[in-house]
Amino acid sequence: MNVARGWGLWLAGLLTACALGTTMVEGQAAPPAGAQQTLLAEQVFKNVQVLRGIPVKEFMETMGFFAASLSLNCSDCHSQASASNWANYADDIPIKQQARRMVVMVNTINKMNFGGAPAVTCYTCHRGSQRPKVIPSLAQQYAAPPDEDPDEVIPLPVTRPGPTADQILDRYLQAVGGAAALAKLTSFTAKGTYDGFDSDFEKVPVDVYVKAPNQRTTVIHFRGGDSTTTFDGRESWNAGPQDLAPLTLMPLVGAAMQGNRLDAQLSFPGQIKQVLTDLRTNFAALRIDNRPVDIIEGKTPEGGIVKLYFDRETGFLVRSVRYSRTAVGTNPINVVYSNYQDVPGLGIKLPYTWVLTWTNGRGTYEMSSLQPNVNIEAARFGKPTPPAAAQK
Ligand code: HEC
Ligand code: HEC
Repeated sequence: MNVARGWGLWLAGLLTACALGTTMVEGQAAPPAGAQQTLLAEQVFKNVQVLRGIPVKEFMETMGFFAASLSLNCSDCHSQASASNWANYADDIPIKQQARRMVVMVNTINKMNFGGAPAVTCYTCHRGSQRPKVIPSLAQQYAAPPDEDPDEVIPLPVTRPGPTADQILDRYLQAVGGAAALAKLTSFTAKGTYDGFDSDFEKVPVDVYVKAPNQRTTVIHFRGGDSTTTFDGRESWNAGPQDLAPLTLMPLVGAAMQGNRLDAQLSFPGQIKQVLTDLRTNFAALRIDNRPVDIIEGKTPEGGIVKLYFDRETGFLVRSVRYSRTAVGTNPINVVYSNYQDVPGLGIKLPYTWVLTWTNGRGTYEMSSLQPNVNIEAARFGKPTPPAAAQK
């Protein structure tokens, strides 16, 4: 069983159950004034005993962290009935109660031994299995070391001759058209298709709107209604059909907001040197799809780590990795960029395909057309409205 399939099954379950009730917030105590921005898990869900005090989005990412750490489906820890209605996730079954005890155990280990830092996580012991191994494996000890996970790369301790971060970025800027041409790109809209677990792997239409320096909106036209993710330069939101998220309108804060801001900023390659600070390079040699890559690491204004992978031959940015801290550990989120094509009339190239992968899902975005320098009304980037079917 893998998580990808797990998340897919969860969604498939929800999608086939058509008559979903009213939203979960209904009937719950109104959140305190001012808390509208960041509804906490316990304000939205019915039976939250240990993962309290965190935003709904982080709560859901914590579920993704559980699923990824143990290779479980959502429905393995929740009753089968959860597949048809969000409210049923509140039911307690033994494995869910054990997971709850594990959260308390892990928090205690970290508090007692690591000053409260998340040094030990579910993944530390579970490594993708339900029953952590107890006896070391001789086969593993004597086998060739497995490939390094390209999302977790560790800087080498000593400087080796190699390109500097500045040189890698300059090559990239050159590869996509050069700084002067890139400076002429101030906005664009793109059209294409999206497919993922949440669309049942059906290709559905998607629209992308981007404005320099940092506004970006993606609208996926699911059968059940539009899912809209926005970043307006300051705030980030997702609105979507009830069957895809526990809230039909969710403010995205913390790492989720920062990730959407990064996606917006990286849409304009010309500003890449301003987006991240404290750049470092000098990572162990790594290949992705058998092609050598150069990696640089930088920091967001909040100190979040971002890694960028550039194809050594073409110079193109082929992957970005960012991290989202959850209540029990850190999730990686990666975006793989490909299919660099000309932007009409500007002499620059942008990736027309990207695949966003995180512990709760994976989606492929394939653009078929891109219009540069169009006027996009400001409201397009603001707080979205949930699709009609999902409104109360
Ligand atoms: C390893 C077990 C495990 C997995 C896998 C898991 N969960 Fe949970 N889930 C829990 C636990 C434990 C709680 C209760 C947390 C608490 O009490 O603080 C919970 C609570 C929830 C709640 C809140 C229910 C309520 O109303 O109180 C929702 C919603 C939820 N999970 C959704 C999911 C989804 C969606 C997935 C798949 C991505 C998932 N869970 C995967 C263990 C799990
Ligand atoms: C220090 C090691 C360790 C850590 C860290 C850890 N676990 Fe476990 N977990 C175990 C062991 C050992 C077992 C198996 C116990 C057994 O054999 O019955 C287990 C069992 C479980 C089970 C029951 C699986 C089943 O099929 O019955 C769940 C669910 C679980 N862990 C969830 C979690 C979650 C969620 C976290 C992170 C919050 C976590 N664990 C962190 C050691 C750990």
